[in-house]
Amino acid sequence: MANGLSKRIFTFLMLISLVAVALNLLATVEAQNKKKPRRDVPIVKGLSWSFYQKACPKVEKIIRKELKKVFKNDIGLAAAILRIHFHDCFVQGCEGSVLLDGSASGPGEQSSIPNLTLRQAAFVVINNLRALVHKQCGQVVSCSDTLALAARDSVVLSGGPDYDVPLGRRDSLAFASQNTTLNNLPPPFAKASQLITDFANRNLNITDLVALSGGHTIGIAHCPSFTGRLYPNQDPTMNKFFANSLKRTCPTANSSNTQVNDIRSPDVFDNKYYVDLMNRQGLFTSDQDLFVDKRTRGIVESFAIDKKLFFDHFAVAMIKMGQMSVLTGSQGEIRSNCSARNTGSFMSVLEEGILEEALSMI
Ligand code: HEM
Repeated sequence: MANGLSKRIFTFLMLISLVAVALNLLATVEAQNKKKPRRDVPIVKGLSWSFYQKACPKVEKIIRKELKKVFKNDIGLAAAILRIHFHDCFVQGCEGSVLLDGSASGPGEQSSIPNLTLRQAAFVVINNLRALVHKQCGQVVSCSDTLALAARDSVVLSGGPDYDVPLGRRDSLAFASQNTTLNNLPPPFAKASQLITDFANRNLNITDLVALSGGHTIGIAHCPSFTGRLYPNQDPTMNKFFANSLKRTCPTANSSNTQVNDIRSPDVFDNKYYVDLMNRQGLFTSDQDLFVDKRTRGIVESFAIDKKLFFDHFAVAMIKMGQMSVLTGSQGEIRSNCSARNTGSFMSVLEEGILEEALSMI
């Protein structure tokens, strides 16, 4: 009798522990599928995965919620924001210099040729996000962090991968000159060789280059960015039907019309950009040559057949790019308005200069 009871208790306990193990397994799988963490990517000193946990714990929620509304009206702004983040990082680092208006010291980065096609409406969105965040938390979140988070959300809300963004960037006090801006942004006529070197100089490897170029799975381009491939001679690496269609969109080299970057799914962040390249329907030389060059071709093919592989590499490359030459700690400032340096910051730069001079005289 006692033996029978203990058997039943034993079976009952076994069942409970089996259920517990199963539930635990389910929870782990769900957590893995649900989100992102790409915390295996090294982060630079001064940035952290939980930077605003105390000062502004809701910052990511505020930005995501607002962008959902913004993109409902115009999904094109997701592409515009993603591109602004790239143009910020490649010129002087991810420190919000591209957001600054020109000043007495000269025209801002936005006046440099490659930046003329950045969308003004997207700059307004970044400033609005900054205002919303500052309203809730005070002036504690930088414009460069706001832009990095907005770029991540642009990817996610267009259908792309979610990933964590290391935070703690500070905003620069100055923007780059027109020439520095021009020299740091790769042109659309660049071949893979040049891009590989350019990216390597920034510690971005060949896979990062191919993955980041996948940003062209969304957004648009103006005719002059690619008509060099149509007139006077047609680029032989371009699909003929595609070339004819582009000629109809851009009847002259300087036509002001636009063309979607990814003809298969222009507003969706997916891996169709690589399918375009394999069909010789890449828009820029910098895109198509990734399928011509032996060093990048295999990566293009692997991304074209495996969306998850692309997403994984894109997330890693974005986290790497987003940390280029960042300002941290007491460097730079937290701008109260993303388009202008804080008033008084000129004095602090001047004071730093005077201090350095004084120290050098000792
Ligand atoms: C590899 C070198 C790159 C070159 C040469 C390049 C060049 C260009 C050019 C010429 C345009 C079109 C500008 C216009 O005519 O309106 C463009 C658009 C765009 N680029 Fe890139 N790009 C590069 C890398 C990237 C990266 C790394 C990203 C982001 C991860 C990116 C995201 C975008 C997006 C989203 C657009 C569309 C913007 C919009 O619709 O407003 N690009 N790019």
